[in-house]
Formats: sequence, structure tokens, C-alpha cells
Amino acid sequence: MNSIPQEIIRRKRDGLALTTQELSDFFDGFLRGYVADYQMGAMLMAITLRGMNGQETADLTQIMRDSGTKLSWPYPRQQIVDKHSTGGIGDKTSLVILPLVLCEGAKVPMMAGRGLGHTGGTLDKLEAVGWSVYLSEDQIAAQMASLGGCIMGQTEHVVPLDRRLYAMRDVTATVESIPLIVGSILSKKLAEGIGGLVLDVKYGSGAFMATTADARELASQLATVGRSCGLSIHCTLSDMNSPLGTHAGNALEVAECCEVLNGKGPSDTTELSLHLAAEMVQLAMPTRSGADIRNSLRRHLKDGTAWRKFLQIAEAQGGDLELLIDYKKLYRAPIKKAVVLTGGPIVTSVDTRQLGLAILALGGGRKLVTDKINPWVGLTELKRVGAQLSSGEPVAIVHAADETTAEVAANLISRAYRLGDEANPGVLFEDIP
Ligand code: URA
Repeated sequence: MNSIPQEIIRRKRDGLALTTQELSDFFDGFLRGYVADYQMGAMLMAITLRGMNGQETADLTQIMRDSGTKLSWPYPRQQIVDKHSTGGIGDKTSLVILPLVLCEGAKVPMMAGRGLGHTGGTLDKLEAVGWSVYLSEDQIAAQMASLGGCIMGQTEHVVPLDRRLYAMRDVTATVESIPLIVGSILSKKLAEGIGGLVLDVKYGSGAFMATTADARELASQLATVGRSCGLSIHCTLSDMNSPLGTHAGNALEVAECCEVLNGKGPSDTTELSLHLAAEMVQLAMPTRSGADIRNSLRRHLKDGTAWRKFLQIAEAQGGDLELLIDYKKLYRAPIKKAVVLTGGPIVTSVDTRQLGLAILALGGGRKLVTDKINPWVGLTELKRVGAQLSSGEPVAIVHAADETTAEVAANLISRAYRLGDEANPGVLFEDIP
């Protein structure tokens, strides 16, 4: 290590930009044991308070990417794409998008995460239906060749620096720093060896970014840094002031995806999934027209091609095909409780974060990374802002393991929903340049 760690911290503390060499000395030095945890804690706080310019964020992203294994493919890089969503309540689009995009011939080595706190994780949803998410390199390569892609968990060899930094950010009040978020998200996507990335940045009560302004800022930095690291990027902002779709909770969300893939799902999940899938295909095949891609994707939902592809991926990864084909069997929590509210015929607002907390109270989420979850609990028949309710119609049905947790969840849901006479449902999603 060339520079003294405390001198590098001092420069960032005083608001100066760090050079590529200083960043590499400090962050590589941390992995090699030359920088102590307390020094990294101080650096993370200095970055949170002082920020980073585009060059520093790109340098940090690349140092993180290079801290572990990178996937490499015998395919043109442009053809290999993925998407990242910043997450929210009922956000289950990955399971619909993967088969759709593979039907078009793009390649997708999708690395997904677990749920922590009030938002769910794709890996937990897949494990609810027996899907193996930790694949060997040989399995990944074989599935990329035979089906075009897979959904997998990140192994400990991929971006190990992110794992260590994320654990420290969690306990040093530095999770919210935009350059640190950008480095964390993009380093993992770059390690997949992709050429194109679609970003679904969510805003609203149940999202990481509460306001559209914050979501725009995150999207803009993700796009700028991603492009400077050689990725083609498309950014969509989407609304998390309503739950996405009608189902939230692990197995229940898989059931909704099965509905969508059979052409019978709720329109919000269907439309957002189709949109993000179309943008991924467009990045992989830039000479095709947008209209041709969109029509083709809709056809895959209508004629069962996407559903059959989904079942093939499930089979390759050990998923329970019987449970997926007969997906009504996924509704197996013993207690069902309807939440019926008064106050008007229209849903005027939803605090979606409270819905996430209700799922946590049911045992469907984690407070600690080590917590075990109950895959069957959750919520169905969820209503969006602007929904018109008939007399006695519930805003949600709670699926619980017992009466006590059902009651706690129902109370949280009652507090989350406001009813009245008129509402502004907002826009489901918009693209940003
Ligand atoms: N997702 C990540 O992977 N990292 C962050 O820092 C935030 C969201």
C-alpha cells in the first residue's frame, strides 16, 4: 500500500476527490488487511457526507467488480443482458421477465438477491417452489447454452468486497449514500459479464428511495457510471406508492407470476414486466424495432411460449413442476383473513412499507440475514391507489400461519390504507433518458 490510510480518509473528509490510485490503495488494502475496519467505517461516513464525483464512483465500482470472480461467456457481450430492480412490495417481475427475454434469444445470467427488512427477495420466492439457486459454474454454462439463461444466487467469490462493505454500511448508517449504492449494484452486475442492463428504479413509500427526485438522482448516477464502465443502460422509474400486483409474500408471488405467464395476471405486473423485458431485448438486439419486440413478447404470453420456457428453466433448476403447473396449491397457509375497511369507495393512498412490515410480522421476511422464513404466508387481493371497492370488498386477504400473526398483519394493513371519494393513481412507470 503506497498511501497512508488516514491521509486518504482525511482527503475525503475534507471534500477532495480521491485518485484512482488512492481508491485502489484504500479499498484493495482493506481486503488485504492493510486497512482496519474502523478506518473503513470512517471512510464510508466521509463518502456518505462528502459524496463522490463520477470518476471516483466509476473507479470504486471497478475496484469492487475486480475483487472476485467474474463470469465470462463465449457469446457476443451485447447479447448478454440483465435487469436490476431497487425492490419494493410485490415486485416479482424477474420471474416473468427471464423466460420472456429468453424466448427472444437474448442471454440472461440473472444474479438475484434475498429479502431483508420489509422487501422480498427473488431467491426466497424461488426456494419456496424448490428451485436450486446455487449453481456450479458448469451448471450455469450448460444452462446458458441450452436455455439461454438462469436465475442464481451470488456466490461468496463474486464481489467479496461488496459483501464486506454492505455489512459495514448496515451498522454505520451509511447505506443511503448514492455512490456506495451505485458501486454495490453495478459491481455485481458487471461481474456477470453482461453488455446491457435495464434498471428499474422504484420510488414511493415501499421503496429504497422515497421521492421521485431521489430515485431520479440514483437512476442518473447508475446510468452515467454504468455507461462509463462499458454497459448499455436503460432506466425506468416505477411507482411503489401502491403494491405491484395483487400478491405479496414468497410462494404467493410465484403464484401470481404463473398467472401472468398464463396471460391471466394483473395488468400492472404484466405491463411492467413486458416493458422491462422489451427494453432488455432492445439492448441485446438494437437493430430490431421496439414495436416488433413488444408484439413478439405479448405473443409469448398469449400462446404459452413464455410459460413453457419458465417451466423448462424451473425443471433445469430442480423446481417443483407439479406445484407450478397446479399453482393453486401454493395458497396453503392455514388462516385466511379479509381486511375490510370503511371510509369511502376508493383507495386514496397506501403506505406500502406497512404492507412489507405486515409480511414480516407474518414470518414471510427476515429481520436478520440468518432468520428462517415461512414461504407460504403473505397477502393477496391487494388493491392499488385508485381502486374502486364494492361494498364489503377487502383491501387485502391475509394468509397466515396462526390467528395471532393474522391479527397483527391485519392491523398493519388497516393502518396502511386510506379510503375516500377520489384518488390520483399516478403513473405505473416512465422511462428516463
Ligand atoms: N442493492 C444493492 O445491491 N446494494 C445497495 O447498496 C443497495 C441496494
